[in-house]
Amino acid sequence: MTGNDRIDSNIPNVARMYDYYLGGYHNFAVDREAAEKVLAIFPDTPAAAHTNRRFLQRAVRYLTEEAGVRQFLDIGAGLPTQGNVHEVAPGCKVVYVDNDPVAVAQARTLVEDLPDVSVALADLRDPDGLLADPHVRDHLDLTEPVAILMVSLLHFVPDDAKPGRIVAQLRDATVPGSHLVVSHLTLDGVAEAPVRQSQEVYRSSTAPIVPRTRTDILRLFEGYDLVEPGLVRLGEWRPDPAGGPEAVSHGYGGVGVRPKF
Ligand SMILES: C[S@@+](CC[C@H](N)C(=O)[O-])C[C@H]1O[C@@H](n2cnc3c(N)ncnc32)[C@H](O)[C@@H]1O
Repeated sequence: MTGNDRIDSNIPNVARMYDYYLGGYHNFAVDREAAEKVLAIFPDTPAAAHTNRRFLQRAVRYLTEEAGVRQFLDIGAGLPTQGNVHEVAPGCKVVYVDNDPVAVAQARTLVEDLPDVSVALADLRDPDGLLADPHVRDHLDLTEPVAILMVSLLHFVPDDAKPGRIVAQLRDATVPGSHLVVSHLTLDGVAEAPVRQSQEVYRSSTAPIVPRTRTDILRLFEGYDLVEPGLVRLGEWRPDPAGGPEAVSHGYGGVGVRPKF
């Protein structure tokens, strides 16, 4: 068993709650009820989720068009939605990883005819197991640069699970020139009471939620050089001039590269 690899429609599931925020249909009543509780606390969560998706897409576009990346390991990929990595980076090798069996099953249905794309049911908290999964091992060439995506994922990994150590272990499995993309919920600029209330909602879900300060999130990039503009509010990361302003951001995002020397 790897975390929550059973389908349980009685427990709110973080992948399906996020799907609900994005306006998707892969969610059950229990997910919608929990998501509605979060929306009562933070009504702009759907806008923030869309801002997060657009950050992911801009980062992938930067990586393919400017950094020459051809391989992506998208961990905590979630349920398929619009603008998935393989759609933004056609022709690249892409492995989606999630520990939610519904997300994995839906992703497999979407990509079964695409030889460049693979989907693994694996848990970030077991990085050795994740890297040894045949869908990862046989699909990516880790002697060549790869971009690891952990977008809106690490705030589901509490401190006692040592997220910094996990990120470093995956980093060490890649070669210089490889990238890390992170977006992460923050505590900065948010009143404590509503944060605690939303944490209470997530406590009864498949994963607790742990927003962190910018300083803590920055530490996750150890061993990487941040590319411009660094770790910033999601809407400020290389904004698309044609895209209009991003009004809402509950987190920080950044892209790091393993230096070659
Ligand atoms: C908020 S969604 C983010 C989806 C996508 N990365 C995005 O940003 O649009 C978080 C995803 O992380 C997955 N997840 C949470 N904890 C995980 C873990 N320990 N290992 C793998 N996936 C995990 C959830 O199942 C969910 O699909």
